[in-house]
Amino acid sequence: MSVDYPEHPPKTPSDEELGRMSRDELSKLGMKLDGVELVEYPDPWPVKGTRAEKRAERAVAFWFGLSGLAGLACVAAFIFWPAQYVAANEPGHFWYSLYTPVLGLTFGVAVLAIGIGVLVYTRKFIPHEIAVQERHDGGSAELDKATITAQLATAGNDSTFARRPMIKRSLAFGGGVLGLALTVIPLGGFLRNPHAQSSNEDGLLHTGWMQHGDEKVFLRRDTGDSSQVELVRPGDLDAGAMETVFPFRESERGDHHALVHGLKRADNPVMLIRLRPEDAAKVVKAEGQEDFNYGDYYAYTKICSHLGCPTSLYEQRTNRILCPCHQSQFDALQYAKPVFGPATRKLAQLPITVDPDTGYFISTGDFTEPIGPAYWERKS
Ligand code: FES
Repeated sequence: MSVDYPEHPPKTPSDEELGRMSRDELSKLGMKLDGVELVEYPDPWPVKGTRAEKRAERAVAFWFGLSGLAGLACVAAFIFWPAQYVAANEPGHFWYSLYTPVLGLTFGVAVLAIGIGVLVYTRKFIPHEIAVQERHDGGSAELDKATITAQLATAGNDSTFARRPMIKRSLAFGGGVLGLALTVIPLGGFLRNPHAQSSNEDGLLHTGWMQHGDEKVFLRRDTGDSSQVELVRPGDLDAGAMETVFPFRESERGDHHALVHGLKRADNPVMLIRLRPEDAAKVVKAEGQEDFNYGDYYAYTKICSHLGCPTSLYEQRTNRILCPCHQSQFDALQYAKPVFGPATRKLAQLPITVDPDTGYFISTGDFTEPIGPAYWERKS
C-alpha cells in the first residue's frame, strides 16, 4: 500500500490561531505535526441503534456486571466465611477448607470478567483505525502536548462511551466493587481488633503455652498420631540433639479436638535443644531469662522473628538455628539472637523446668515476649 505522507512539519499556528481551533482541528493538526497519515478510520456502527449494536452493548454490560457480582461475593466471603482453623474430622472443617479457594475464585472471576468486558468493548466499539507515522526523535513541544490532548479527547468521543449509559453504569459497578475488594482485603485486618482477646491465649500476646491456673503445661512430642500423648523428659535427647515439642495439659487427655489443636496451633511449636556440655559452658543468657533453661536444655519458639516461617534446622556443630525461608541464622549459645540474614530480633525463649512429681519437662510460663514477626505495638 502506498501512502502519501503529509507535509512535515506543517505551518505552525500562532497562539491566537491555536486558541480559536476546534477540538477536531487540533486533533488533525496534531496528526500532521506527528507526521501521521490516517489511512482507515471505519465507524464500527455506521447505522446507529441496530439490534446488533444493542446486543454488543448488553454483552459488555454483562461482563462488567458479572465482575461486580463476583467482587461483592469476594468481599462477603472475606467478611462472613468461617476463616477460623477447624481440624480435620471436626464439624465445620469442610467450610473452613473452602475459605481460601472461595476468596481466590471470586476475586479471579471479578478480575477476569472486567478484563473480558474491556476487551469486548474495545473490539466492538472502538474504531479500528489504520494510521502510518514517521519516526522522529526528541521530546514533545507544548504544541504537541496540546494537540495530543485533543486527540485523546476525540478518541474518547469516537469510542461512543459517553453516550452508552448501560456500559458506563455496569463498568462503574464492576470496577467499583473490584476496587472495593482490592481495598477491603488488605485493610480487612483493621476491621477486627487484634487485641480483642489479649487477655487470653487467642490474643497476639499469648500462645498455647499460656498457664491456666495451676494446671501444668507439659512438653509433648508429635508422634504422627494426634490422639497419642508422649511427653518428653531429660535423657530423651542426646547431647547436641533438637526436638519439636507442643504444649499438653492433663485436662486435654482424651479430648480429640484439644489434642489436635495443640499440635496444629501456629504459635505452639517449640524447639527443645540439648546443648553439648562443652557448648553449654559458653552460653550467654538474655537478661531476665537466666533461669529459663533446665541444665543443658533450652527451648526456643520455632516461629522465625523475620516473617514467621518455621526455623526448623539446628546445626549441632555451630549451634546455629537456621530458618530456611530467607536464611536467617540464630545463635543457640547466645539466647537465639540473630547472627545472619534479615531477622533482627531473637527467637523468644520458653521457660522450662522438670516437674518434680512426674519427671517430665513442663513450661513454667508462657513466652515473656511476642513471638514471630513484628507488628506495630511490639516493643522487642
Ligand atoms: S521467615 Fe525466617 S528468615 Fe525470613
